[in-house]
Amino acid sequence: MKSIIAVSALVAMVAAQLEPPAGPFTAGAWNPSNRWTGVAINASGRGFWIGKDSSSYCPVVKGLDCTAFPGTSTVFAGGSGTLSLDVAVPGGQQVFVGPDGALGYTGAHSASIPVGAVTTGFLRFQSVAGGAPVPMTFEGSGFRACPVDETQENVYQVFASAVGTDPGNCIQFQLRTYSAPGISAWQY
Ligand SMILES: *[C@@H]1O[C@H](CO)[C@@H](O)[C@H](O)[C@H]1NC(C)=O
Repeated sequence: MKSIIAVSALVAMVAAQLEPPAGPFTAGAWNPSNRWTGVAINASGRGFWIGKDSSSYCPVVKGLDCTAFPGTSTVFAGGSGTLSLDVAVPGGQQVFVGPDGALGYTGAHSASIPVGAVTTGFLRFQSVAGGAPVPMTFEGSGFRACPVDETQENVYQVFASAVGTDPGNCIQFQLRTYSAPGISAWQY
């Protein structure tokens, strides 16, 4: 009897976290009490932000059509262990969590990450909760958005909640992912 209960509990646990849809995706912040229902998370200047446009770059190279890389949205790949930006630049761009919890990414043509940064621990899954959202966690927790400064109202930097501390003015949120049609930027 005991083992039957244990097995059904296990089945319920597995059912609550289904395989996420394959393919590239964008990320949004979900915290309805802050009126965030998927507000875009964009990559810029090696960090991730709410309320800021993506920064992207496409080199002027003969034969490279940069109109294929508008870079207006921030598209990710992976999310099972490691996480990357979905880019065309050879070598890609890896996402990491810095020692203060800040979500960052490597520059093009470089695999170097800050001392103490971590590249594994991301988990993307399909929930069975209302609407079957596809959240992503880092080390089992969500994320926090911290205001940048008074001069940039409504701009927040994204940190992993599992790392570092909330100075007291951050907003905790669930990170949700949304399937994207494909690559957007040559590099961010
Ligand atoms: C961030 O990216 C999204 C698309 O992914 C875009 O719609 C939005 O305008 C961007 N900028 C800001 C300030 O949110």
